[in-house]
Amino acid sequence: MQTNNRVAVITGGASGIARATCLGLAREGVKAIGVVDVSDDVFKACEEGNRNLEREVLVPFKGDVTNTEFRTSVYAEMVNRFGPVHICVPAAGIVRDALAVKIDQHGKAALYDEHLFRKVIEVNLLAPIYWAMEMIGTIAEDRAARKLGRWEPEEKVQGTIIFIGSISSAGNRGQISYATTKAGLEGAESTLTKEAMFHGVRCAIIHPGFTDTPMVQQMDQKLVREKILPLTQLRRLLRPEEVADAILFMIKNSATSGALWVDAGWHPPA
Ligand SMILES: NC(=O)c1ccc[n+]([C@@H]2O[C@H](COP(=O)([O-])OP(=O)(O)OC[C@H]3O[C@@H](n4cnc5c(N)ncnc54)[C@H](O)[C@@H]3O)[C@@H](O)[C@H]2O)c1
Repeated sequence: MQTNNRVAVITGGASGIARATCLGLAREGVKAIGVVDVSDDVFKACEEGNRNLEREVLVPFKGDVTNTEFRTSVYAEMVNRFGPVHICVPAAGIVRDALAVKIDQHGKAALYDEHLFRKVIEVNLLAPIYWAMEMIGTIAEDRAARKLGRWEPEEKVQGTIIFIGSISSAGNRGQISYATTKAGLEGAESTLTKEAMFHGVRCAIIHPGFTDTPMVQQMDQKLVREKILPLTQLRRLLRPEEVADAILFMIKNSATSGALWVDAGWHPPA
């Protein structure tokens, strides 16, 4: 899909992979990017980004992606100011790792905390799907207002969604909630791929490997050094810019669909 003059919404954009994606998209000529994050850092990230890019392209929105009113208000403001949103990368995510079942000191089985599981599902699974559907909605309403029905190829692709999965979607010890949500995004991606093309919107999912962002920096670094890095082809963490580059490729090349694994050859062990 052509990126020039398009409008985007990227969640989790204060940091890591999403931040690099915002900067990459801006360099591709995107007109405006709604940069969404729960952290105050989103203001600084946008200010610095706009200064380096020498134009006001990054528009910060501070809030929680699981909040429906916040989501609809972000889209309403973006549509009001810039028109329909064409690109959505709902990247905000969290990890809350623990074993699924663990025997405690009294010989009792402790199950993974159910409230925590629901929280991870809200942030990593439900929120990305709803942020994506909201974007489809802006395009669908715009096309309906123009009395357009089923999308025809002559219109050119109207929108692209890239979900951020993970290598953990293949199953990874200690990541019952995270892995479940990332695998769940596969189902959302393939369903929206079938439904959203009616409105001219395509969909795909990327599965990054371990990437040098705060999410991985907060992990046990001994484990990363000893158990992960030796098994990757590159023997290093991926850089956020490398993952962002793959996301940009998927956005720009409308022939891509389904899943792209950007993992330097590392897969969760059996
Ligand atoms: N870093 C990796 O190794 C890796 C690998 C595979 C997939 N991913 C995925 O890539 C995406 C980006 O992760 P990252 O590594 O750049 O991490 P990161 O921690 O640098 O960035 C995540 C951002 O999401 C924001 N966020 C978290 N919860 C939020 C909420 N409820 N509402 C709004 N914003 C929220 C955080 O404030 C943060 O800025 C995530 O979906 C993650 O699961 C990361």
